[in-house]
Amino acid sequence: MTPVPEKMKLVEIVDVDAPLDPRSVADHEPERDFQLPDVIGILPIRSAVAYPGTVMPLAIGRERSKMLIDDLVPHETIFGLVAQINADVENPGAGDLYRVGTAASVLKVIRMPQGSLNIIVHGIARFEILEFVQTVPYLKARVRMVEIKTRKTKQVKALMVNVRNIAGRVIALSPNVPEEAAILLENIGDPSGLADFLAATLNIPNAEKQALLEEYDPRKRLEKISRALTSQLEVLELSHKIQGEVRQSIDKSQREYYLQEQLKAIQAELGQGDKRTEEINELQSRVKKAAMPESVETEAFRELDRLSKIPVASPEYSVLRTWIEWICELPWSKSTDDAIDIRKAERILNRDHYGLTKIKQRILEFLAVRKLNPHGKSPILCFVGPPGVGKTSLGQSIARAMNRKFIRISLGGIRDEADIRGHRRTYIGALPGRILQELRKCGVRNPVFMLDELDKIGQDFRGDPASALLEVLDPQQNNTFSDHYLDQPFDLSNVMFIGTANYTEPVPPALLDRMETIELPGYTEGEKMQIARKYLIPRQLREHGLKKTQLTIPEDTLRAIINSYTREAGVRNLERTIGSLCRHAATRIAKGASKRITVNLSGLAKILGPHKFESEIALRTATPGVVTGLAYTPFGGEILFVESVATPGKGGLLLTGQIGDVMKESAQAAFSVVKASAKRLGIDPEQFARNDYHIHVPAGAVPKDGPSAGIAMFTALVSLLQNKTVRPDVAMTGEITLSGLVLPVGGLKEKILAAKRAGIETVILPRRNKKDLSDVPKEAKANINFAFVTKAPDVLRITFEG
Ligand SMILES: Nc1ncnc2c1ncn2[C@@H]1O[C@H](COP(=O)(O)OP(=O)(O)O)[C@@H](O)[C@H]1O
Ligand SMILES: [Mg+2]
Repeated sequence: MTPVPEKMKLVEIVDVDAPLDPRSVADHEPERDFQLPDVIGILPIRSAVAYPGTVMPLAIGRERSKMLIDDLVPHETIFGLVAQINADVENPGAGDLYRVGTAASVLKVIRMPQGSLNIIVHGIARFEILEFVQTVPYLKARVRMVEIKTRKTKQVKALMVNVRNIAGRVIALSPNVPEEAAILLENIGDPSGLADFLAATLNIPNAEKQALLEEYDPRKRLEKISRALTSQLEVLELSHKIQGEVRQSIDKSQREYYLQEQLKAIQAELGQGDKRTEEINELQSRVKKAAMPESVETEAFRELDRLSKIPVASPEYSVLRTWIEWICELPWSKSTDDAIDIRKAERILNRDHYGLTKIKQRILEFLAVRKLNPHGKSPILCFVGPPGVGKTSLGQSIARAMNRKFIRISLGGIRDEADIRGHRRTYIGALPGRILQELRKCGVRNPVFMLDELDKIGQDFRGDPASALLEVLDPQQNNTFSDHYLDQPFDLSNVMFIGTANYTEPVPPALLDRMETIELPGYTEGEKMQIARKYLIPRQLREHGLKKTQLTIPEDTLRAIINSYTREAGVRNLERTIGSLCRHAATRIAKGASKRITVNLSGLAKILGPHKFESEIALRTATPGVVTGLAYTPFGGEILFVESVATPGKGGLLLTGQIGDVMKESAQAAFSVVKASAKRLGIDPEQFARNDYHIHVPAGAVPKDGPSAGIAMFTALVSLLQNKTVRPDVAMTGEITLSGLVLPVGGLKEKILAAKRAGIETVILPRRNKKDLSDVPKEAKANINFAFVTKAPDVLRITFEG
């Protein structure tokens, strides 16, 4: 039990025997000498419960109740307040009332002009109804006062501290409760009085409030109140938190909104106002011109009519006007004419992109079908691949090839459904969602609309943007897309949607189902050289105002940029780096320092700094226990280092480095295989009892998972236990089973490209992946030795020379 603080013991129980006075609100002790008459008038109350010791205002409307009040002599006559079981009963009889109520006296009667009464009553003591003795003109009952017996046990005192404490926090969080309530709380020394005071403030259903009145034991009552207060506190704290978050996002739009309103009011004062008729006439003709569907137009005219009746200075006027303007500006029927010429389309695709033969082929097929059957439901394409492989720019080319406008929205970080389909109009500063905003901007209803980065959509308590996107992409539904702001169906079926993602896994499966994915796995060194020569260098030269003759980038310089300065699946950094060379050249030429510039290898290092990716592998693998693995990530393939060390211990295995569960299990398996074949590998099994083993897979912000590092972990452990380093030019990928078998893995092309970028000469692969090698471009395979393994120990013959 918690000790009772000193302060508590000092609080005295105060007796009240002075005549009641509204100022004595803080005295919550039931009067000791209070005598309840045998028969009292009963005032039914609809949706509240009165408690002893509290003061409450009541509005009296019913004739019977008025009569009762009129018969009372203020300050002297006691009557009973009893809650109705059902608040809707207009003329409650004996059966409609609870049996326990609160005896009270009237402190004040305020007569309202319309004849109704407001009274302020002071609750004095609990009573039970024994029987009703009168029903006309108002209820009277024979009653018995309930004596509350309080023992201030330690437990009760502790409970009081507890509820005071929670109530204090509730008060602090409740904007409508004055701070003084907290002080009042401290001054109620009687447990029953404290419980009743708090019960009156609780935000709980009436039936529960009545239950608190009917609970005579103050200790039990305090316990119930403590529970109710705690849950109220939780709700308050949560809503406080949510409010804080919401407020941040609303504050800005609300501020702008009010400023605009003020500006309007000022303008009206200055006599520039009432352009209303003019404005409404203009809106009317705009509505007509917008050529919207009939039902929408009817609604627009109805709202326009409403607008003409609202005062211009009222906030609603501008809310409504903005809405009508929005409706007028949407491309309800404007569209561009499709001009699909397959041969021209092919030219455009080839002009904009190097390689990508299969993908271009698929796009042309798609366009051909579209041309022959313009109104058929064509599939939604989704380009999947690492950054910088041309997903976005392919979308732009498609738009150009079809002679359509192009729109792109990035879904990265969109977590609110309202971002897609807007906020309701009633919400201050509301706007339509991104889909309609972009359509308005582009002005036609049939653009190519790219939904970029589908894998980055978020989801939180404000709703799920993915489900809104589902509706956007569903050909069955998207001809009546409903934006919350617009509140009218908009036909999206003429929009051609294209998705992009780095990775398909994070894309919600329902969305992925709606689309046909087209993979763009990344480029080989040779492809990148071509892309740079034919596309990136000319473009960057143009953008920097340079002539072709003014900057020369020789073959080996370009190769060094690709291999030593940018290591990526796409060509984004390559283009950026070429941009820096152009900037450098442009500066020198503008200064007059040179006329034409050739960037050779040594010049390159001067402009870009030392190589970024030099011989990291040799450095890392110089220690036993470190092995180069190959991984497949959203950014293409990557090499990764598997490190292991032994520390004194008892044979445990520790895994670190942001690795997922599958990878962890695969490490366990590798460890077991090493232990099981220790003898054959020349490893002293005694070692296991003395050491703990730690495997770490460092670097990269991307969490790593999957089983494909199995043989790398196996090899790292063997390297550690045999105290031998592995060859630095070898990298490996493969799943390992408990029996030491090596199973095939995915992402082969990406992994091989990554190995090549890193300067690896030998790649170890599962034998069962051999057939997949034919899908990997020749270019990528050139100058790499492939070694195929069936069992884990085969790896060792390759990694340890000799
Ligand atoms: N095959 C290619 N041929 C020519 N340029 C390309 C090719 N692939 C990518 N690019 C260029 O690389 C840059 C990055 O492409 P981008 O479309 O932004 O990639 P993503 O959207 O896949 O991240 C663009 O300037 C694009 O034109
Ligand atoms: Mg992109």
